[in-house]
Amino acid sequence: MEFCHVPVMLEECMQGLKLRQDGVYFDGTLGGAGHSGEILKRTSPSGRLIATDLDPEAIANAEKKLAPFSGRFRLFHANYKNFSSVAEDAGIEGFDGALLDLGVSSYQLDNRERGFSYMATDSRLDMRMDPGQRKSAWEVVNTYDRKKLSYILATYGEEKFAENIAKNIVEERKFRTIDTTGQLCGIVDRSIPYKFKQGGHPAKKTFQAIRIEVNEELDGLGECLRDIVKGLKPGGRIAVMTFHSLEDRIVKQTFQDLATACVCDKRLPVCVCGRKKKVELVNKKPIVADEEECLSNPRAKSAKLRIAEKIRLFDGEK
Ligand SMILES: C[S@@+](CC[C@H](N)C(=O)[O-])C[C@H]1O[C@@H](n2cnc3c(N)ncnc32)[C@H](O)[C@@H]1O
Repeated sequence: MEFCHVPVMLEECMQGLKLRQDGVYFDGTLGGAGHSGEILKRTSPSGRLIATDLDPEAIANAEKKLAPFSGRFRLFHANYKNFSSVAEDAGIEGFDGALLDLGVSSYQLDNRERGFSYMATDSRLDMRMDPGQRKSAWEVVNTYDRKKLSYILATYGEEKFAENIAKNIVEERKFRTIDTTGQLCGIVDRSIPYKFKQGGHPAKKTFQAIRIEVNEELDGLGECLRDIVKGLKPGGRIAVMTFHSLEDRIVKQTFQDLATACVCDKRLPVCVCGRKKKVELVNKKPIVADEEECLSNPRAKSAKLRIAEKIRLFDGEK
């Protein structure tokens, strides 16, 4: 199967990163290498790219796709949350920019063997971005207790009928294991009253929630953004694109916190907290895709892009 993924807000991301010709860039979510390729294309032969992906198929595809830029990039089969150790392995002390385009690629969603899609009926429940990881969707659906399942569906999927779906999953398990995406779709379908099934596929929220749990997509995201900001050169930019309200909230709050200086009580005559602002927000409101892009690439509809720029710190600070 061909590796297809149309990069979202490509121009907005490139402009947002304010690329320098000889810059060194980090792409934590390589995917189909759309953004990575563009970074290499728009920088000079001295420009460098370090990229990570959890998916070995993404790495293998990108090695081929980026071959014309050979010698200018290094790809790591790694979690972007291990940013600091990847940067150390690559021997990079400061980046001019970093990009995270969160979530799954179209290739992962469309490849039925990966078990991400509610459109395929007979795929084994999987949803691992990294097939070498132990926890899969099968394990979540077949071993988590009702309370935990309900929490995940309600929180990560914002699914109104989380309680009911969790109850029916646990009920079904008394008779057989839930092995396929089709079986799970069937359970979700009978857990949601008919009149609430009009907009979109009924299992969409359930699948999203389980995928987030399997890949621990929200865990440690805020800390990772802080690590990346530490790894930027002064004036370097971080651009993060999200597709889910909880992810966007983490990015927004972390950027706001990094953009906050003194938090002392206003009545104190002098600052005692010693806090320094680390970044300047480039955009206060998230950038969204224009109508044309949303029409040609429906995935772009829910995308939100936030950008921050590292400010100059005092000597010795990181
Ligand atoms: C939306 S796609 C990125 C698409 C890419 N920007 C492009 O232009 O083709 C997200 C990619 O990030 C990867 N990914 C998601 N979470 C990750 C993580 N924590 N660490 C490394 N890669 C991750 C996924 O495997 C997927 O390939």
